[in-house]
Amino acid sequence: MKIINKISELKTITKELKKDDKIIGFVPTMGALHEGHLKLVKKAKKISDFVIVSIFINPTQFGKNEDLDKYPRDINGDSQKLKDLGVDIVFFPDAEEIYPENYQTVVSLSKITKGLCGDRREGHFDGVATIVLKLFNIVTPNFAFFGLKDYQQFVLIKQLVKDLNLDIKIIGIEIVREEDGLAMSSRNLNLTKSGRKKAGLINKVIKSAISKFKSKVENFENSDFIIEYIQNNLEKEGFTIDYIELRDRKNLITVHSINEDSMIFIAVFIDNVRLIDNFSFGEIYD
Ligand code: PAJ
Repeated sequence: MKIINKISELKTITKELKKDDKIIGFVPTMGALHEGHLKLVKKAKKISDFVIVSIFINPTQFGKNEDLDKYPRDINGDSQKLKDLGVDIVFFPDAEEIYPENYQTVVSLSKITKGLCGDRREGHFDGVATIVLKLFNIVTPNFAFFGLKDYQQFVLIKQLVKDLNLDIKIIGIEIVREEDGLAMSSRNLNLTKSGRKKAGLINKVIKSAISKFKSKVENFENSDFIIEYIQNNLEKEGFTIDYIELRDRKNLITVHSINEDSMIFIAVFIDNVRLIDNFSFGEIYD
């Protein structure tokens, strides 16, 4: 496995791979890799000839008061994990390589960035769209893999690819969870012991609301009631709610009546760590 820091070096390799008609699978990450990331890598290995993983903590997707400085970093551990999975190249550039002096371009999507994390994290999705398009141009993948945990990001990337006519197939991977149901996240490393213990309640409370809806428990047909139920149960355990919303998973439009395309989206703070998650009322087939 090669670790590459320079765009020009990586481009030379990807051009050769294209010439040889090799299928390139790409997994963009910000590092501090866990089983969630590794599931994306494993899927990439299965369906590609050559797998490239990027590790880049993209500063432009963090707001001024966000956790850029506290974001966990573990390049040695990450490299070992990726090597064990048979990854071909890790692209690990520094910020200057990606945003040199006089850098100017920002990629921005309109509708999809409204609501949910888009409203709470100003500029976040411009940062994501910009870095992902840059990485796509450098890596020129056939397949790119994204987790459904960051669901709004996943929908945004699919829209970007469609709008800009990129020949890249975006593959969504189901959320990988800890034993207690907490969605795996690099940020979980920043939780205290007690915060970590409590964080499992997000899954527990929302799953209980969905199962009450499905077994037609009184009041649980009402989406406002469900949201209040989740909010009350988490607030009393010390969570600060950023949002809890019910939306259609296909277009992210807010809905009030529940069907199998409905999804609960949640962002909460515990220990000043922001955790996001989502839960579907139906199956996800993408
Ligand atoms: P990062 O948070 O490192 O996540 C990299 C990829 O792993 C994303 O597609 C994310 O959805 C996926 N992922 C994270 N936790 C997961 C889990 N528990 N189950 C399944 N997939 C999971 O998302 C980013 O980085 C950045 O925004 C990036 C796309 C790299 C652009 O900078």
